[in-house]
Amino acid sequence: MNKTILITGGAGFIGSHVVRLFVNKYPDYKIVNLDKLTYAGNLENLRDVENTDNYIFEKGDIVDESYIKDLFTKYKFDGVIHLAAESHVDRSITNPMEFIMTNVVGTVNLLNAAKNQWKGNEDGKLFYHVSTDEVYGSLGDTGFFLETTSYDPQSPYSSSKASSDHFVRAYGNTYGMPYVISNCSNNYGPNQFPEKLLPLFINNIRNGKSLPVYGDGKFTRDWLYVVDHAIAIDKIYHEGRNAETYNIGGFNEWTNIDLIKILCKQMDIALCKEEGTAQQLITYVKDRPGHDKRYAIDANKLKNELGWEPSLQFEEGLAKTIAWYLENEKWMDNITSGDYQNYYKKQYS
Ligand code: NAD
Ligand code: TYD
Repeated sequence: MNKTILITGGAGFIGSHVVRLFVNKYPDYKIVNLDKLTYAGNLENLRDVENTDNYIFEKGDIVDESYIKDLFTKYKFDGVIHLAAESHVDRSITNPMEFIMTNVVGTVNLLNAAKNQWKGNEDGKLFYHVSTDEVYGSLGDTGFFLETTSYDPQSPYSSSKASSDHFVRAYGNTYGMPYVISNCSNNYGPNQFPEKLLPLFINNIRNGKSLPVYGDGKFTRDWLYVVDHAIAIDKIYHEGRNAETYNIGGFNEWTNIDLIKILCKQMDIALCKEEGTAQQLITYVKDRPGHDKRYAIDANKLKNELGWEPSLQFEEGLAKTIAWYLENEKWMDNITSGDYQNYYKKQYS
């Protein structure tokens, strides 16, 4: 069946994996990737699909209301998979306004454009909003986030994502907008910008730089390989029920310090260094303000309803990830020159 689908934020980390999957798996779909190409957007992530017939790139800003309106008029989208966002908690602490603009205002602009285009003709249309488990706040030592867990966001980033989730549900409830939302745990894998824990530490180890562990390092995250997230998004887009929320997680919890120690071990092997070399770079630094203690997703609704499960064991996913970054040193070197150095100095000095 022919469809024209808008994927926002397709030049970013997760978005590029979603674009690749859809372009290759659905040759009958026209996939339009809209991305502003902020510091986190990188067309290098999509070199392998950029000349494919069913792929189109549009550079633009979701905050620009009239541009978004015109884009919907031009393509008459059947569906939207919305990933574009400011996505890094530390940056949201220093500059919350950018998060409100892109994550909240940008999302509402897309909702308005979809509502106006689909009015009275909602059949077969879908607004898929990609969100995060961070909207649920922080867990104690036990328990899991369910789809019914109350929202309790703690950072400017998670508050902006929570707000956008509420707007999507409000448009479903008020205007009959067909939608689905998924809330996913921490992703890792190829193409992640090295401001997030794993690529930052991989890059620092390869350069012999210290590994800044926030606080006592005993914060817990649930890690999912990015391709498994893209596969879940495909399943939910095609088989998810209207107006439903699906949690996506790796069934894979680690404290930061345990994760970092495994990473150090695997990096020593990959770089042919003596065991213990990378671990010597661990440096405990000042904690992140308002640092959420623990995230843990119960993804059983997705597993039971749609038959999705993570395909990789964590050690295997981590080894693949390390191998990718070491084979793509040029990718890393290109994005860590220039502005990245200023960001790094401000964040870690
Ligand atoms: P990312 O920061 O790597 O990429 C974001 C992309 O959005 C970039 O390509 C950027 O250029 C684009 N963008 C930013 N502002 C824009 C704007 N105003 N207009 C158009 N494009 C804009 O982010 P990511 O890690 O790939 O996350 C993608 C989505 O998944 C986000 O919505 C995020 O909240 C969500 N998410 C991320 C994780 C994770 O672990 N990374 C986990 C769960 C959910
Ligand atoms: P991050 O990758 O920023 O994802 P999120 O904050 O969205 O979970 O961080 C993952 C964990 O690693 C989080 O507990 C913060 C911690 N962390 C560090 O200890 N040092 C760092 O330099 C970074 C970037 C993160």
